[in-house]
Amino acid sequence: MYLTKEEEKILNGEEGYAAKKSMEILVALGNIYGAEKLIDVKSVQVAGVSYYNLGDAGLEFLSDLAKDGKVKVFTTLNPAGMDLVNWMEHKIPEDFAQKQNLVVDSFRKMGITISCTCIPYLADNLPKFGEHIAWSESSAVTFANSIIGARTNKEGGPSALAAAITGKTPFYGLHLDENRRPNIQVEIKTHIKNISDWGALGYCIGKETENMIPYITGIKKASVDELKSFSASVVTYGSKPLFHIKGITPEAKNYDIPKEKVVIEADDIKKAYSEINDDVNEVDFVWIGCPHCSIEEIAYIARLLKDKRISSDVEFWITTARKIKELADKKGYTKIIENAGGKFVCDTCVAVAPLKGRFKSVMTNSAKGGYYSRANNEMKIKFRSLEDCINVVVEK
Ligand code: F3S
Repeated sequence: MYLTKEEEKILNGEEGYAAKKSMEILVALGNIYGAEKLIDVKSVQVAGVSYYNLGDAGLEFLSDLAKDGKVKVFTTLNPAGMDLVNWMEHKIPEDFAQKQNLVVDSFRKMGITISCTCIPYLADNLPKFGEHIAWSESSAVTFANSIIGARTNKEGGPSALAAAITGKTPFYGLHLDENRRPNIQVEIKTHIKNISDWGALGYCIGKETENMIPYITGIKKASVDELKSFSASVVTYGSKPLFHIKGITPEAKNYDIPKEKVVIEADDIKKAYSEINDDVNEVDFVWIGCPHCSIEEIAYIARLLKDKRISSDVEFWITTARKIKELADKKGYTKIIENAGGKFVCDTCVAVAPLKGRFKSVMTNSAKGGYYSRANNEMKIKFRSLEDCINVVVEK
């Protein structure tokens, strides 16, 4: 891979240990994927923030980089393993919290904004159409590529951090026009009516278009929250982190409809619900906010919970970005939801928090959330609409 003189100097250690290490990571990656050069990125979003996933080896890697590493571009963080302020209230063990705080301190030292959210595009890191970025949270990568038309591969935690420290990323994959072309048409022949249906649709399309870029037809409109849910599930269940929807996403008009075609009908959506669900009747936990809740979703939950009471047998979590929670405080939504017995949990999510053994089963409106609650925290899944999640747990 071609390197400029300035990049060579970084590789030779002239800008210090962290910059050298970062350049080594990018060069290795560029060589593996056949990139011809590095390009500048406008922003970075780093995943691999939870101590639950990083462990001591990850903490040591970050502490070493933080000795002389400083980010060159605006960089935000994916969720950590706990609410950084109220972790005690959520029963996070103290030794875990100490380690998690050390992880966050390392990121802070490097000049990273401690946003801890998987929806940076709704909080504080909104890219523009056509911009090259280096993001690592899969749902955010898919949203940024597909809905915004920014360009990023799905970076791993170390390669995103390397991009942040150098301001560069290898020029390959979804940064290139030719790799953004759709390979398969997916015709939707049923009404997709709410956020969980969009999650189920992502399940169907992800499975049908594994490692491909779908071109979706038959959708007349979709809200940001629905597209956020879809972005999360379609990539979780198999497709590349980019899709086009005719008449909705900004790059769809650049392409002809691909010849290969699959059709999704009402029965497929029904089947997706039954495949995502486990056989479970009782739930002791409800989780809304995968991806993190927007202010509109929180407003809607507040409307549904007004003057209601959640059963004391169930813990009800809303995960969101701290910034969005602060807005919810100001608008009065927090008070309504907390009065009903719901809890806000910021900076984290159920997939990356140490919750194994704490809850037996989770009810959620997120197809991705269900997948990771089972995979990372061994919970059984009840996947339902948001309205159902609330109806089931409020006292009658
Ligand atoms: Fe976000 Fe966690 Fe879901 S990072 S997309 S809330 S699994």
